[in-house]
Amino acid sequence: MNAGFQLLPTTHPLPAAEREEILAAPGFGRFFTDHMASATWTKEGGWHDFRVTALEPISLHPGSAVLHYAQEIFEGLKAFRHDDGSIWLFRPDLNARRFVNSARRLALPVLSEELFVESVEALVRADEAWVPPHEGGRSLYLRPFMFGSEAFLGVRPAAQVTYGVIASPAASYFSSGLSGVTLWVSENYARAGKGGTGAAKCGGNYASSLAAQVEAQENGCDQVLYLSDDEERYLEESGTMNLFLVTADGELVTPGLGTILDGVTRDSVLELAAEHGLKPAQRQVSLAQLREGCASGEITELFASGTAAVITPILGFKGREYEQSVGGGIPGEVTTNLRNHILNIQYGQAPDTRNWLRRVI
Ligand code: COI
Repeated sequence: MNAGFQLLPTTHPLPAAEREEILAAPGFGRFFTDHMASATWTKEGGWHDFRVTALEPISLHPGSAVLHYAQEIFEGLKAFRHDDGSIWLFRPDLNARRFVNSARRLALPVLSEELFVESVEALVRADEAWVPPHEGGRSLYLRPFMFGSEAFLGVRPAAQVTYGVIASPAASYFSSGLSGVTLWVSENYARAGKGGTGAAKCGGNYASSLAAQVEAQENGCDQVLYLSDDEERYLEESGTMNLFLVTADGELVTPGLGTILDGVTRDSVLELAAEHGLKPAQRQVSLAQLREGCASGEITELFASGTAAVITPILGFKGREYEQSVGGGIPGEVTTNLRNHILNIQYGQAPDTRNWLRRVI
């Protein structure tokens, strides 16, 4: 079904000179474009009111379900400008599918994959001028989200739900960017357990990660390395990214799915592995194995992947009584090559042999 997100253009776009100033150095998540896409769902009427309008505050009843029980999900994907001016999305079908899975887990209504992609494309078209050129790793970050907007304090799925897509010009997620980050191995906090919401992209997962993130920063690290909540203490993911390790004998290992996010970049890295002479493997890795492997040199590189962070080298990690550097504390060659490969596909500078790109303009 094609909803035809109706464009009602803003009457007060940001002046071009101010927009260009923002696009020159957008940082991450600090600035927003002129428009937003939206739709509403009700139990009686299903999905309706598909629109692209001026970006404006959303007015919410203080009793709205999301404000009390965190019935909310979101996605993250990017639009890339190629040298010829055209604009492309990277594997939006995977974000659309994950959004459906997250909705099911949070008892939210399903927005079809077609409508999801249509809404994102409609917003990119309306805000085309906000897609920066790619120099400096820039793109337009798109943030679809959905939440229970019914005012009702009983605990049950909301009978009214709001869907939106906003957009924010972006450069590197971490200020340290390509140079790499360090991880704090959290003993106090777990991200997810079996049967929980770990595989869903819901705001609650990120809310509960904040205390651990503060703990990481207090200990001089950039991000958290979460472990499973069982005795073996298997690697799970980092707060906003999936984890990968490279072994001296050419394996590219990442924790298997279940309680972690099914990352789009994670999937892409696994698919590209063979082209880099690597054998991809999805299996559990315990903290003890990680520590021993990095100390002995059996594990040569560690990196994290995510839409916002692309591929970020992990230079070391520490816990309460230990500190371990990885690969001599500098970004590894495999990490750098995979990062460049993905970025080159996204920016149209390497062949897109798997048809991952979808043209919007
Ligand atoms: C993304 O990589 O798109 C994410 O969702 C991470 C984000 C929470 C900044």
